Amino acid sequence: MLTGKHILLIISGGIAAYKSLDLIRRLKERGAGVRCVLTAGGAQFVTPLSVAALSEDAVFQDLFSLKDESEMGHIRLSREADLLVVAPASADLMAKMAAGLADDLASTIMLATDKPVLIAPAMNTKMWEHPATQRNMRTLQDDGVTAIGPGQGDLACGEVGAGRMSEPLQIVAAIESILIGQVTAAPLQGRRAIVTSGPTYEAIDPVRFLANRSSGKQGHAIAAALARLGADVVLVAGPNNQPSPPGVAVRDIESAVQMLAACEAALPADIVVCAAAVADWRVAGEAEQKMKKDGSGQPPALALVENPDILATLSQLNGGRPSLVVGFAAETEKVVDHGQGKRRRKGCDWIVANDVGPGTGVMGGDENTVHLITSQGVEDWPTMSKDAVADALARRIADHFAVG
Ligand code: CTP
Repeated sequence: MLTGKHILLIISGGIAAYKSLDLIRRLKERGAGVRCVLTAGGAQFVTPLSVAALSEDAVFQDLFSLKDESEMGHIRLSREADLLVVAPASADLMAKMAAGLADDLASTIMLATDKPVLIAPAMNTKMWEHPATQRNMRTLQDDGVTAIGPGQGDLACGEVGAGRMSEPLQIVAAIESILIGQVTAAPLQGRRAIVTSGPTYEAIDPVRFLANRSSGKQGHAIAAALARLGADVVLVAGPNNQPSPPGVAVRDIESAVQMLAACEAALPADIVVCAAAVADWRVAGEAEQKMKKDGSGQPPALALVENPDILATLSQLNGGRPSLVVGFAAETEKVVDHGQGKRRRKGCDWIVANDVGPGTGVMGGDENTVHLITSQGVEDWPTMSKDAVADALARRIADHFAVG
């Protein structure tokens, strides 16, 4: 699959560097040429000898090495590859890339390259979740860098959470979709999509809010799937713990009103998918100070006002309506009937209806059983992972534009 493709693999510091040795092997098996750069941190975890033996090439380590520069200058190193892959991408190297620093060979190559870049972040959960890393991630994505992972799970440091480097075969798949997808697999190239995801938080006072249990898994997976098919995706997301999907511009919001404003700011778009679980109501007159018990034993009365309906608003835009608007209907009974009613009421084109009744495990779970309701009828899809539902929906959207 990758015969004739040249990959420059940058291995930065992190325990996940051991997986990069397997990544080299997998890429070589598929016919790719792999040349490696090992940072000083990376060399603490894997040896240059292992990397050289597996890649069957010299390993480059030093910006100021006369030998390396005479054999292959860093500019050539950055330009001769078809794709630059940073795996593992440490928090430190990501920060350097986001800031445009160039104080070692790896960061200098990243600044000098004109080739696509894929990063596979790997670090401790707290480091990944730190606002600085998340900010750097957004900057890198805005700069056109594609990211894969990190995944969730047990980390080498003993903690559990987001931060595990994606598995070598997942990274290979991402590499194939970038290198081969450049030619073939981007049916949504040139299409703009807006996806809403996650819950909304509606403030009661500065410390309390109304919310719901949405995890954001399905919406984030849809944004990632549309981006994999080449769409230019803006993901408007309420508070969630999902990793930022690769190649997607994320707009973080809290309330329904902010979600609508962010969607409107992201227009024009060809495709809208409203997967967020938007709170139907917000508190009228949010308190400016924390509400205190007054000693009377009487709870305060909370007056609620209805939130704007983002799906209905975008479906009913006069002028500039996206040509395909897709909503979700999470129902506990009469799933298809309620879904059809919702499609008519809100004025959207398709509804993805799913059963969230007790015992289905859908809220926060990894699987989903959905029915796609269109003007043509109802398709019953088998139970699939949320990722597979996202892929199927993205392909269905691509087919719609191919035919339309
Ligand atoms: N939605 C939205 N903005 C809202 C409420 C819902 O964009 N303020 C979208 C959701 O993202 C989803 C769809 O509308 O795509 C269905 O949401 P739901 O809350 O189930 O619809 P309701 O109109 O609240 O219907 P009901 O209360 O009868 O379930």
